[in-house]
Amino acid sequence: MATSHESQGQRMHTGKGATCPVHDPSVSACWERTHSPAVPAPVPAAVADWSFVPPFGIYVHVPFCAARCGYCDFNTYTASELAGSGASPDGWLAAVHREIDLALRTVGRRPVDTVFVGGGTPSLIGAGRLGEVLGAVRDAFGLAPGAEVTTESNPESTSPEFFAELAAAGFTRVSLGMQSAAPHVLRVLERRHTPGRAVAAAREARAAGIGHVNLDLIYATPGETDDDLRASLDAVLDAGVDHVSAYSLIVEDGTALARRVARGELPAPDDDVAAARYELIDDRLSAAGFDWYEVSNWASSPEAVCRHNLGYWLDGDWWGLGPGAHSHLDGARWWNVKHPARYAALLRAGDAPEADREVLTGSERQTERVMLQLRLATGLPLALLDDPGAAAAGRAAEDGLLDPAHLAAGRAVLTRPGRLLADRVVQQLLAGAPV
Ligand SMILES: C[S@@+](CC[C@H](N)C(=O)[O-])C[C@H]1O[C@@H](n2cnc3c(N)ncnc32)[C@H](O)[C@@H]1O
Ligand code: SF4
Repeated sequence: MATSHESQGQRMHTGKGATCPVHDPSVSACWERTHSPAVPAPVPAAVADWSFVPPFGIYVHVPFCAARCGYCDFNTYTASELAGSGASPDGWLAAVHREIDLALRTVGRRPVDTVFVGGGTPSLIGAGRLGEVLGAVRDAFGLAPGAEVTTESNPESTSPEFFAELAAAGFTRVSLGMQSAAPHVLRVLERRHTPGRAVAAAREARAAGIGHVNLDLIYATPGETDDDLRASLDAVLDAGVDHVSAYSLIVEDGTALARRVARGELPAPDDDVAAARYELIDDRLSAAGFDWYEVSNWASSPEAVCRHNLGYWLDGDWWGLGPGAHSHLDGARWWNVKHPARYAALLRAGDAPEADREVLTGSERQTERVMLQLRLATGLPLALLDDPGAAAAGRAAEDGLLDPAHLAAGRAVLTRPGRLLADRVVQQLLAGAPV
């Protein structure tokens, strides 16, 4: 399923979001309680209530990469793929300015709680253009006090000067794609940076005054060993970041990786290996003081949680700027045309760059809420389930997949074995069938 979340920078099997539950002192207190195994139900009130007061996020899609990694099916283009199309970073920037004007005319001035620049490779277009986009969002809408402002970056297109410029422009968070510390794994993934560059970049970002830094890992790549993953985790922890996202390698149709697997050049990733690696990651990060807050995301404190991603997971409102970006406002969803040249041409002509839209029915919205909220450490209120779904939740708790204490308190919260089978638990809760 190609969802807005997948197309906007992080994997659906991982996710991301918005408001600021972590600025509510009661939430920090709840977070502290999660560290005591004796106390169940770590349901931060502000997170649980969040869907009633949705914040407003802006996503900005940068559709450019220096080269395409073999596993990646995101909406992104290399210079040679764009040759002759008229698309360019400056054309993109002009078009994004026009779409910001359109967004302002549509939603009115509304302070932005989170901004997330994703890609593609935002760092490829330089800190100047990234700062200009942020300035335009700030001028149009205003930023809410304490707004979270993230940009994704690829290690090889960053430098101390780049991060200093970002910090000066108002970026508060950087997310770097590291994937692995093992050179042979990076080769299979067709990444362009050396193993050490991601860690160095994370340190440079912190030194430049960027308050929050994430490293992305991919695990269960063919050829990766447990020791390779342990070395990657050591490197991540050594980098001093406060957030880690870890995704099992997905072989996406149409990618170079899929073709190599189909030709037998590489084995497909193994589900059992992926499950064991997930446990290894969770053990190592937990021992280092990180808590999972979404199945594939760990943070070292409540302040380190990615609020923009929370907005996606908790049914918030956001406007997605840029080619292929998805938006969600008041239950309506729409998505932009994917090609940067077409996107820019539509806006130049004074048209909306929208490709299509849909208004979710009540039951579709409920299904989405179950799918997304069950992946959060706060879980989902049982009130979101129908009677057969609630019965299935009871059976899932008996099978050790949902936490019984949370269930008794009215929420479905995955146990660690449940996290490994999250998609299956979601299906069963929605179908009300035995797990
Ligand atoms: C699409 S990238 C964009 C950010 C940046 N260009 C980069 O490569 O780090 C965001 C993250 O999605 C994850 N990702 C993309 N495709 C994936 C796949 N097929 N399987 C697992 N993770 C994937 C990677 O961890 C990557 O860091
Ligand atoms: S750099 Fe990131 S967005 Fe670009 S192809 Fe690689 S994974 Fe995809």
